[in-house]
Amino acid sequence: MNSKIRVAVIYGGRSTEHSVSCVSAGAIMANLDPAKYEIIPIGITKDGAWTQGVTSGLEIHNRMLPEVAMGDELTLSLNPATKGTFYNLSKGGVHAQVDVILPVLHGPFGEDGTIQGLFELSGVPYAGAGVLASAASMDKEYTKKLLAAEGIPVAAQVVLTGARELQEEEKHSLGLPVFVKPARGGSSIGVSRVSDWSELAAALDVAFATDSKVLIEPEIVGQEVEIGVLQYADGSLLASEPALLAGIADSEDGFYSFDTKYLDDVVTAQIPAPLEPAVTLEIKEMALEAFRALDCAGLSRVDFFVTESGAIVNEVNTFPGFTPISMYPQVLAHSGVEYTRLLDCLIEQALGSAA
Ligand SMILES: Nc1ncnc2c1ncn2[C@@H]1O[C@H](COP(=O)(O)OP(=O)(O)O)[C@@H](O)[C@H]1O
Ligand SMILES: [Mg+2]
Repeated sequence: MNSKIRVAVIYGGRSTEHSVSCVSAGAIMANLDPAKYEIIPIGITKDGAWTQGVTSGLEIHNRMLPEVAMGDELTLSLNPATKGTFYNLSKGGVHAQVDVILPVLHGPFGEDGTIQGLFELSGVPYAGAGVLASAASMDKEYTKKLLAAEGIPVAAQVVLTGARELQEEEKHSLGLPVFVKPARGGSSIGVSRVSDWSELAAALDVAFATDSKVLIEPEIVGQEVEIGVLQYADGSLLASEPALLAGIADSEDGFYSFDTKYLDDVVTAQIPAPLEPAVTLEIKEMALEAFRALDCAGLSRVDFFVTESGAIVNEVNTFPGFTPISMYPQVLAHSGVEYTRLLDCLIEQALGSAA
């Protein structure tokens, strides 16, 4: 008789953040308390096939990114009567039976409500945001619309869904430089800074290569600060100490790009961010407001620009990076919730809200 909670850690997936997800999952599996949990790793290949995963070897080595290798094909039961059952389609029979799912997936098909919908249909408890919050937080156009409706400051945007020229008045109101980014991207993939309109077409090509919808925003000049929000099983919320990302200006790309984030080791965080106490209080409150405005659950990381004229929310991540250098576990640890306890909280919240 096994009294451990059986946790499926699902990672990889079809998004451009496949490898980041693998690294996040590796760190999570290394930190789940083995006395409490039995881990069932489930990998999703870049093509979207589900297969048995691994529990180790998911780190970045010499700038080489891990990815899910295909083995037997698995599928999750969609029948609530057999909820939490993974079947082995290649060999037949049951692969594993789980109590709860940790969807350690970033980006489209993982963090956007699609897989959350599948979990809802299947009846299995899962950690983190539900369908609506995942979808709304993945799509930066709608994130900003929902936040703005609650009076939370966000950057202006022009939304493009196909090749079209920017109108002169749009260029004028955006000003230069602008940031061009996929609406449903992540890890800075497809993001460019444009300081001359002649560079816009190339930046749009890069962004449209990852998404059919692209946002153009004026550059926000300020400090990049991130706050982790954690929801306990009783529904109460904790806003972490803020992290200030330092060293971004010195990085090769001049902003918080993919290489800067994961490969170059140039960005260090100052936790807590050295802000005026009133500013820290204000952005912690804004982080909670953003969590509620988007109907998040379990966890989220709310990213800010702190400018001279106040704080602006840049984006909300419903399953933020959990790699060893990722901000979310670090800011929570600085707020008294270390990694293993953090994972307990996520699982308790998932099981609690399912009860
Ligand atoms: N409007 C903006 N003004 C200034 N910098 C920006 C702006 N938008 C994005 N950036 C820079 O690009 C990075 C990635 O953009 P972000 O919107 O956070 O997308 P992602 O979901 O890929 O992290 C940010 O961390 C920041 O460094
Ligand atoms: Mg970001």
